[in-house]
Amino acid sequence: MQTVIDTNIAAAANLLITGEVVAIPTETVYGLAGNAYNPKAVAKIFEAKNRPYFDPLIVHTFDLSEVYQMVTHIPEPLLKLAKKYWPGPLTLLLEKKDIIPDLVTSGLPTVGIRIPNQPQTLELLSKLKFPLAAPSANPFGYVSPTSAEHVFNQLHGKIPYILDGGKCHVGLESTIVGMHDEKVTIFRMGGLSLEEIEATVGKVNSHMKGGDNPAAPGMLSSHYAPHKSIIVGDIAENLNKYDTHKIGIISFKKTYIIPDSKYCCILSVTGNMNEAAQHLFSAMRYLDNSEVDLILAEVFPNEGLGRAINDRLQRAAYKRNEH
Ligand code: TXA
Ligand code: MG
Repeated sequence: MQTVIDTNIAAAANLLITGEVVAIPTETVYGLAGNAYNPKAVAKIFEAKNRPYFDPLIVHTFDLSEVYQMVTHIPEPLLKLAKKYWPGPLTLLLEKKDIIPDLVTSGLPTVGIRIPNQPQTLELLSKLKFPLAAPSANPFGYVSPTSAEHVFNQLHGKIPYILDGGKCHVGLESTIVGMHDEKVTIFRMGGLSLEEIEATVGKVNSHMKGGDNPAAPGMLSSHYAPHKSIIVGDIAENLNKYDTHKIGIISFKKTYIIPDSKYCCILSVTGNMNEAAQHLFSAMRYLDNSEVDLILAEVFPNEGLGRAINDRLQRAAYKRNEH
């Protein structure tokens, strides 16, 4: 199958209407989309990504009124978040109606829903008579794509179309929020910060424990991972410790002296955390595709999007066999 990269929204819509899958840009990461109401289209998503069926998908739509067709109700505090942060990097876990196939939710009673903040994708969604199920457009377990080229590099030949929306401006997946024991609970840190959520609904719980067999694979201890080893910690110390390796670095704002300076990736020279988040995944991919054999990453300040960055780095660094 030939994979086209282009900006033609009508072409993308036509493919989706015929039950095909299409990669779509969002403000967080690129998604691999199919008709959420069509189990055959949804099955194609799992197949192209090599994704296990126990990993539920997020459903995308363009307006809050559309959400009520898919869910029984929206609990008060989650509605507050929806009204404030949609369109945006927020996914809500809501009790699903039967119209959502079990394949989408991996048999769970809740469905993850979000309204992405990306003009082309919002236009595409508003042209369709169905919402789009879309996980991140990467092979299962790998780093999420933040450009059309990232998607093409890994999925070409497997999908017919990539809607090109340039670089994703948030760069981290959405924050997933739901109710647990009647409390607002964060299930995945992401592009909407804890501070923003708590400013709206007060103190929240978190339920992001990893392990090798969690309720949702986004919580797997090893996920979002490049092929090369990553070690997270004090870089100066680790540079001494691993001095026989060809090192690549992911740093927040500091420059480290290494033999080949092009492998020192500074995510934001001005120390802007949102900019750092935007560049994290492309830096991981760049180093993964380079000649370095070990990636050293800093621990980021645990505030704002720094929490989600640390979460991704930890999961990227986790080695299943060593635990
Ligand atoms: O920003 C994003 O969320 C991107 C873009 C494309 O929207 N999507 C994304 O999807 O990151 P994905 O499939 O890579 O991650 C979805 C994760 C699942 O791995 C799972 O952890 C969680 O969302 N999830 C989805 N539905 C769930 C449910 N009903 N209960 C618990 N977790 C759920
Ligand atoms: Mg993913």
